[in-house]
Amino acid sequence: MKREHLDTDSPNKKFATIYKATAAKPFMAMLSYLPKNLEDFTFVDFGSGRGRTLLLASELPFKRVVGVEFSTTLHAEANNNIDSYCGRRKLGNRPESILADATTFPIPNGPLVIYMFDPFNATVTKGVFDNIVASYRACPRIMYFLYYGPVHKKIVLDTGIFSELPTAPLPPDPTLGRPLAFSLFATPEHNN
Ligand SMILES: C[S@@+](CC[C@H](N)C(=O)[O-])C[C@H]1O[C@@H](n2cnc3c(N)ncnc32)[C@H](O)[C@@H]1O
Repeated sequence: MKREHLDTDSPNKKFATIYKATAAKPFMAMLSYLPKNLEDFTFVDFGSGRGRTLLLASELPFKRVVGVEFSTTLHAEANNNIDSYCGRRKLGNRPESILADATTFPIPNGPLVIYMFDPFNATVTKGVFDNIVASYRACPRIMYFLYYGPVHKKIVLDTGIFSELPTAPLPPDPTLGRPLAFSLFATPEHNN
């Protein structure tokens, strides 16, 4: 889906990339870097589209799985997908799609797993990370950031709270026939 087809009043519409869903295999490979004990963690996908990552993440024992999406149509489709997925599977917690601009979403308390698939430009990425840093400074805690298509990783490193961890190449994205780049970051509490 092209940017001009995203139905949102957000002034950040002009900063969005094209809509594309994360393929299941690379997504599960990214999740495999996380600790096994996720019961205290909230998973947040900034720019969650039709909600595929929310359905896949809800197979893990997260405390909460939430996506933030500013397109009214994609958010409605995510809710339909959540309804039919939850009808078929026994999930501990129902994932949530929130209709909002990523820069306005209040950062959840507690341990976090943040996910982005190259959703927006540097301005919006910086806006979201300003919120994440303010939340971390108010309450330092473990945060992982899984960044698929990590175009703006300098913004992440410049926050001064995230360090990059080593990763191996991901399985290919089937629609592209090649793997996409992935970067994994964590706050210092990862070493505790
Ligand atoms: C590349 S798609 C990724 C979709 C999903 N995260 C996935 O991996 O399957 C990026 C998504 O970000 C959304 N988006 C772009 N800018 C946004 C913003 N400022 N606030 C909320 N959503 C945004 C787009 O509408 C699109 O659905």
